[in-house]
Amino acid sequence: MTSAAAVAEGRVAAGGGGANHGARHVAIIMDGNGRWAKKRHLPRAVGHKRGVDAVREVVRAARTMGLEALTLYAFSTENWRRPEDEIAALMGLLKHFIVSDLDEFAANNVRLKIIGDYKAFAPDVVELVENALARTAGNSGTTLAVALNYGSQAEIAKAAAKAAAKGTITPESIEAELDTALLPPLDLLIRTSGEVRLSNFLLWQAAYAELWFTEVLWPDFKPDHLQEALDAFAQRERRYGGR
Ligand code: FPP
Repeated sequence: MTSAAAVAEGRVAAGGGGANHGARHVAIIMDGNGRWAKKRHLPRAVGHKRGVDAVREVVRAARTMGLEALTLYAFSTENWRRPEDEIAALMGLLKHFIVSDLDEFAANNVRLKIIGDYKAFAPDVVELVENALARTAGNSGTTLAVALNYGSQAEIAKAAAKAAAKGTITPESIEAELDTALLPPLDLLIRTSGEVRLSNFLLWQAAYAELWFTEVLWPDFKPDHLQEALDAFAQRERRYGGR
């Protein structure tokens, strides 16, 4: 698709504040925290902590780059299989992140959204999350969607069951029940650390997304890498199955 057509469709802000890449919604599988720490003979938790620093920078960049939505894979349904102390470290970091960064989101019109079943987390985490959701619900800038206790196959099964209960099973009726229903279509899916798979993340939403893989480990991922991915996205011709 030419950029002119994209502008005509309203997918690109014409002449718009840095949003010349055409992407509205980017998702990231943030992988490699453990390997980053191991290379430095540090505990894995330190890798996750540096991963949160990378999250903060990338959320700021997503805002200034004009993205409507950024979806981050923070905790999968499979992550419960990790050792208890690592899960505790991830929960502690999540809580700390919400407490320390909520004012910045609120001040910068960032709307927080959760995909996945976050209510399975400990009550104090659920309370913090719900407070952050409520506080940012009226914001209209970039949506930061954090995937917590998220698995795409379960999401699709649940959406299909809801669609069936309403009487129609079509791609559109299922899509309307997905956790991402109110977000723009996914344009670009990034995975760090050299792994080349989707790991049960946004399987439905990725149907026509562009995929971008990098060897960079997540704690080393900088706004420049996001820009590189968006530049690559802007060069790609998306045909959505047509010619
Ligand atoms: C993958 O690294 C990363 C995760 C399992 C979690 C990602 C979480 C964060 C960046 C921190 C929490 C997020 C927020 C939004 C506060 P890995 O441990 O699988 O790395 P490895 O494959 O090198 O072992």
